[in-house]
Amino acid sequence: MNLFKITLITAAALATSVASAQGAKLKVGLMLPATGTFAALGTAIENGFKLYVAEQGGKLGGREIEYVKVDDESDPSKATDNVNKLVKRDNVDVIIGTVHSGVAMAMARVAKESGTLLIVPNAGAGAVTGPMCSPNIFRSSFSNWQPGFAMGEVVAKKGHKRVVTITWKYAAGDESVAGFKEAYTKGGGQVVKELSLPFPGVEFQALLTEIASLKPDAVYTFFAGGGAVKFVKDYAAAGLKKSIPLYGAGFLTDGTLEAQGADADGLLTTLHYADGLNTPRDNKFRTAYATTYKLQPDVYAVQGYDAAQMLGIGLAATKGDVSKKAEFAAALRKAKIDSPRGPFTLSRNHDPVQDFYLREVGGKINKSIGIASKNLSDPGKGCNM
Ligand code: PHB
Repeated sequence: MNLFKITLITAAALATSVASAQGAKLKVGLMLPATGTFAALGTAIENGFKLYVAEQGGKLGGREIEYVKVDDESDPSKATDNVNKLVKRDNVDVIIGTVHSGVAMAMARVAKESGTLLIVPNAGAGAVTGPMCSPNIFRSSFSNWQPGFAMGEVVAKKGHKRVVTITWKYAAGDESVAGFKEAYTKGGGQVVKELSLPFPGVEFQALLTEIASLKPDAVYTFFAGGGAVKFVKDYAAAGLKKSIPLYGAGFLTDGTLEAQGADADGLLTTLHYADGLNTPRDNKFRTAYATTYKLQPDVYAVQGYDAAQMLGIGLAATKGDVSKKAEFAAALRKAKIDSPRGPFTLSRNHDPVQDFYLREVGGKINKSIGIASKNLSDPGKGCNM
């Protein structure tokens, strides 16, 4: 290496350490949906993230936070360009995003290649913490496999023998159904038909007619956001709610109950959050969120809040220096994250190891009626690190 190069590298290293030592602002890239079927989910994540930062006086690891935002539209075809805007144009220190699994996979690819820190506050794609796992990639949410697996055990124990599944045809739907099927068939059940439609379609009518003619003992579904609102309403309008019990990953009824109204009453779902947990930690969070935003929090708000907590833990350990990746990761790997959902740790592939609540809808809330699966850990298939 020649002297010129060494001087350049030293100058760059010096610039970085001076920047963090002087407490230059930490650039956080928020890549979330602001439009489309998942728009409300993106808003809740951003609200939750900013609430935690505000509670810390606007600073994490001693550094003030500056936000750069991109609307990813939940569109995988635009995802690589969108994440590159944050990494290459805006030079962000950390990326927070996103909701949609297909978009998140493109983000993980760029994060792995560039070494940029990525915290995923929702998307459950197995690949992100599986084959694409990396020391700089973390998730504050769940893996798609988790709520599906938890519900598979519940439905098998209820004694339902024949189930039809219905979802959007993309990573999240496929993986949620696969998790369900794994536990449900192990428990003696049979999935007689797997129905799907392209994301973010809501033309459910033909599929509901097919369910009526198949007459299964129960239906398992993954839908979320605007699509979940319409599915629950259409399922009831088709007259199926009375005859064929509907079970879902909890996204089906989270952040959606105002719009679903009575059509959601009585639905059972599994998720790592519920209303009415009534713990001091959750009550404090819910009061702060409701006071700040004049809205009730949901699972997405919690995941955004916890993404900020996780960033704070890593930055506290590195005194605000994101380039100290090994120390950042080590701090998170041994952390117990004090989440409103209940405390959780991270698995070796950086996914939350957490309890899954069985929830029942009533009076426009998702009330916890017990724990469906305790300390459930994603298997992390394909992760070598
Ligand atoms: C996903 O695409 O991974 C996804 C989207 C919305 C949810 C949950 C998972 O509510």
